[in-house]
Amino acid sequence: MSSTTEFLTLGIETSCDETSVAVLRGEHDVLINSVYSQVDLHAKYGGVVPEVASRNHVVKLPYLVQEAMQTRGLCLQELSLISATYGPGLVGPLLVGLTHGKGLAYGLGVPFIGVNHLEGHVFAHRITQPDVEPPFMALVVSGGHTSLIDVPRYGTYQLVGMTVDDAAGEALDKIGKMMGIGYPAGAEIDRLATLGDPKTVRFPRPMIGSPGFDFSFSGLKTSVVYHLRKNPRERQEDIAASVLASVVEVLTKKSIEAARRFHRKRLVVTGGVAANAHLRKALAEAGVERGVEVSFPKRSLCTDNAAMIAAVGAFRFLHLGESHPLSLKPDPSLGLGLGKSNE
Ligand code: KG4
Ligand code: ZN
Repeated sequence: MSSTTEFLTLGIETSCDETSVAVLRGEHDVLINSVYSQVDLHAKYGGVVPEVASRNHVVKLPYLVQEAMQTRGLCLQELSLISATYGPGLVGPLLVGLTHGKGLAYGLGVPFIGVNHLEGHVFAHRITQPDVEPPFMALVVSGGHTSLIDVPRYGTYQLVGMTVDDAAGEALDKIGKMMGIGYPAGAEIDRLATLGDPKTVRFPRPMIGSPGFDFSFSGLKTSVVYHLRKNPRERQEDIAASVLASVVEVLTKKSIEAARRFHRKRLVVTGGVAANAHLRKALAEAGVERGVEVSFPKRSLCTDNAAMIAAVGAFRFLHLGESHPLSLKPDPSLGLGLGKSNE
């Protein structure tokens, strides 16, 4: 095996509507991390259409691999390991990336490893802050997930809480659709909220006082529908600010509380919604108040990308001696960790 610094991992991510390819040298050095977002293709449908996503991954993926190699002056034969997301996500899109990755590994005669997308989000932190090791509590908050995961060490996870219905980003996207904002709506709601008054409407804070660390965001969506029906002239800025006030308060309270309950001094917040300016501010303030250090990976690594997938693959291969047979199948509902416990 080549030394760790020459060890080159190709990462492939296609679990939803981003086609991404990365090359990682060793465990932290991202040589290239290209992301092609299909967002414009899905915007007119107001959400991701799995069949359209799969077809586009098929078209873009081989091109992105070739481009990544050329940009860094590499050839495929120099790769040491191929890693691709195998779940959770949409089965068609997962199948495209997984099959392409396995084909490359077979053709090149190098090992293959399938990666859990959620573990990938946790590893965005490892790339950004290689010196800040676990233990920590992780909040993965995106369009597909809202999960609190305790990380005593890399490779060992305990699911502490998750959404029982919509993910936070999914709820923001659906609310944005009702407000007439394009898809995805999270970033625009973030911008509008800065110009609005969060006290305009007191939307519910779902499950904020319930025991445990699960979340629920679909009731909030329903409250917004009723409010908009009764108050069609409410300023968008004020609605956005009021909606975010609810989402941010719930996420902040539960995740800081989870870190404290599990005696973790650090909270790592990642996933697309971690880009939210209001959430970042509230979590940083609550962290200072409650003695929890809050870290956010680099924004480009918070959203779906293949560098985080390559980072998991390299870690698991080099430290845990893992690889997968080429019979590995996609697992759309793959979980992370050993189930829930509130202790
Ligand atoms: O991690 P990501 O790129 O893909 C998924 O795994 O879902 O996250 C996308 C989600 C979308 O729901 C989008 O509306 C939300 O992240 N998002 C934001 C912001 N930027 C993206 N939500 C709130 N504030 C933002 N600034
Ligand atoms: Zn994701």
